[in-house]
Order: sequence, then structure tokens, then C-alpha cells
Amino acid sequence: MSDKQNWTASRGRPLSGTLDIPGDKSVSHRAVMFAALADGVSKIDGFLEGEDTRATAKVFSQLGVKIETPSPSRRIVHGVGVDGLKAPSAPLDCGNAGTGMRLLAGLLAAQPFDSVLVGDESLSKRPMRRVSAPLAEMGARIDTEEGGLPPLRIHGGHALRGIDFVSPVASAQVKSAVLLAGLYAEGETSVREPHPTRDYTERMLSAFGVDIEFSPGYAKLRGGQRLRATDIAVPADFSSAAFFLVAASIVPGSELRLRAVGLNPRRTGLLAALRLMGADIREENPSSHGGEPVADLVVRHAPLRGIEVPEALVPDMIDEFPALFVAAACAEGPTVVRGAAELRVKESDRLAVMSAALRALGLRVDETEDGATIHPGSLQGGRVDSHGDHRIAMATVVAAQMAAGEVVVEDVANVATSFPGFDALAGGAGFGLRNA
Ligand code: S3P
Repeated sequence: MSDKQNWTASRGRPLSGTLDIPGDKSVSHRAVMFAALADGVSKIDGFLEGEDTRATAKVFSQLGVKIETPSPSRRIVHGVGVDGLKAPSAPLDCGNAGTGMRLLAGLLAAQPFDSVLVGDESLSKRPMRRVSAPLAEMGARIDTEEGGLPPLRIHGGHALRGIDFVSPVASAQVKSAVLLAGLYAEGETSVREPHPTRDYTERMLSAFGVDIEFSPGYAKLRGGQRLRATDIAVPADFSSAAFFLVAASIVPGSELRLRAVGLNPRRTGLLAALRLMGADIREENPSSHGGEPVADLVVRHAPLRGIEVPEALVPDMIDEFPALFVAAACAEGPTVVRGAAELRVKESDRLAVMSAALRALGLRVDETEDGATIHPGSLQGGRVDSHGDHRIAMATVVAAQMAAGEVVVEDVANVATSFPGFDALAGGAGFGLRNA
């Protein structure tokens, strides 16, 4: 018997209610990091109390930054300035978080002290050469395990020089690592991306007073700048909202309101894809939350049809493919995904694991190198191994809402990395879901 935590998910009732989705993971990581580097005290509101983002906060405590938690989802960060971090006395544990490890690699490569970044089993299998290579070009010294894997042993005390980096991958984490190192480098550092990715680093550095030039797919900053403390309001995470958008679309009779969800255009590819499929999702009460566009999303059940997902949308929905696969499973006609090879190096190989999940529930999925064709059909009960991937687990729970029998979702503990309280929120909205 394994000691892994499982859920049993099954058809519930039509989904209804008004839901508050937890704070954005990408924004929460960066808010703690940049507040820690700033001169002065910053308050963060709406901080994601997930394991990933708490791991990042803990890393900064180990680096000598005082971080208070006056109440859940709030942090008060006493910034130490760009030159105020202290040498850690033990390895820094990033948990499951690629964002934490890759951004920290850029930041720590520029410090006068040595450090070691470690992660959990999943993170320990994820490629780090994509950050260690450009950082080495800047003059950093980072040792990885064989194959460019963590732990990262970072040798401090090396002067960095700015580079013009043309990134081979569309990755906000890679871009951000180079820009953070660039803050400490001699001269200017620029990053050009093959496709524009989320620009939170650029927007937030700018909010912290850094002079940074950026446009979709491009960013440039000068080294030697300081950050000025500022308060950050974290919007609700679109990637967490995504599971409810799909669930309410596929379960007949559903209507959900998701309050004040972050709608940064580099994150909302799934919204566009679902609308192409015929989904009924309205945006209401638009406003701005800490400089980010937000709105309530009101989603009602609607019959979906299969689509060829436009490749240009892929980077804007890179975390949403597990949810998209489930929408596709319940549509009329096949859905084709291409140009999504990056999914193979996420928290799990999401093309393989999500294809296997739908097959375990009775569907046909044809997997390719960089995508899959999902053939819809009637979902059956079964067992699905989430491979410890939070988004696979949640997507499977959504699929189970349309399955003929019970679905045991194995290895779900990592849902807490991005969406603590998912099970309670989903259960309250009408999902059939219990601990198994
Ligand atoms: C993130 C960037 C994306 C995304 C991840 C969060 C970020 O990763 O998948 O969940 O916060 O910068 P990549 O940079 O690897 O595409």
C-alpha cells in the first residue's frame, strides 16, 4: 500500500455559486522576491498561501529577510536592498516550484556568497540548463547535476556582465532569471523571446521603480539599479480559475461567478480557446488590481465543439492544457493540440500524463511529439495517477464530473502547491469529491 493521498471524484450536482479563487502564483513569487530586494517595507495582499510560494518566502527568510504574516494571504516584507541578502547556512528548498528555483538562480548567481538550490522529486527532474547557460554567459558559475538537473550549486562572488540574450524557449522563468541577474550586471541586459510570455517580472520591477523597457517578447534593463518598496495587490490566479471555467462549461445546468480573476493577456489563452469551442463566459465588473486587469468571470454551461488550438495561443495557456484536455474530452468532435512540446517539462510530462488520464477514463487520445489529438466520448470511472502534478489532479477531478462511474485520483497532495482549499471550494460549488 502506498501512503499517497488520493481523492474519489464523481458526478456532483450542477455547479453554482460565487467563488473567490486564491492569489496568483506567478505574482506571489515575484512579490516576495522583489519586496525582499527593495529598500523599505512592502505589504503584499492576496498572497497565495500555497506550498510553492511559501517555499519562496522561506528561502528569503533564510537569506536574512524579515517577513511577517499579519493574517493569512498577507505578508509584510522588510526589504534589505539589492545588496542586503545574507549567506544562507543550509540549502534553499524550492519545493515543487520551477518559478522559485529558476528566478532564484538568476538572483543568487549575482550574490557575493555561495548557495545551493534544491527541490522535490518533480522539480529535481526539470531542466535547469535553460537558465544556467545564459547565466554562465553573463559570467556566473553554477554547477548542476548530470543532464542540467537540480540541485543547483551556485558559486557567488563572480562579477556579471550584461548580455543580449535571444532565448531559444518561450519561458517567462528563463527571461526573469536573466533579467534578475541583469540587475546586478555591468551594462545592459536584454532578452528576446521566440513568443511573448507573461510579463509580471517586467511590470513588477517597474512598479518597484526599476527603469526597464519592455514590449511583448522583449525586455531590457540596466544593471546597478535599486528597488523602491511598494505595496502589491495579487489578483486571483487565472490558472486556478481555469478548472472551474471548464467544469461549469461541461456540467449541464451550471453557472458560476469567479470573482476578480487576473486577466493578464499573456495568461488568458484558455479563455480564447474555450470561446472558440463555444463556451459561454462573460467578463463583468472589470477593474485593475495592482496594475493588472481583473474581472469577474461568469461561466454557464454550453455545448462545446472540438477545435484545432491555434499555436499562437499556446504560450498564453501553457499551464492550462490539463484543463483544456478535459474540455476537449467533453466536446463534439476532436481537438488538436500542436506546438506544445514545453508541456513535457512541466511538473510532469503533461502530454503523456494527461493523455494517459483520459485513456484511463475510456477515451482515445493520439499523442504526438508536441501535442495530441483528443477524441471525445463517454467518460467512464477508473483510476488516474496524477504523478504528483497538481494540475493533472485537478483536471481529473473536473473530468470525473462527467464520468459514468467513480474516478480515483491518485497522489493529490501537490494540489496544495498552487491551490490550497481546492477540494473544499469545489465541493461547495457542487463537485462530487471526497478523500479516498
Ligand atoms: C511561470 C512561467 C511558466 C509557467 C509557470 C509559471 C512564471 O513556466 O508554466 O507555471 O511564473 O514565470 P515557463 O517559464 O517554464 O514556461
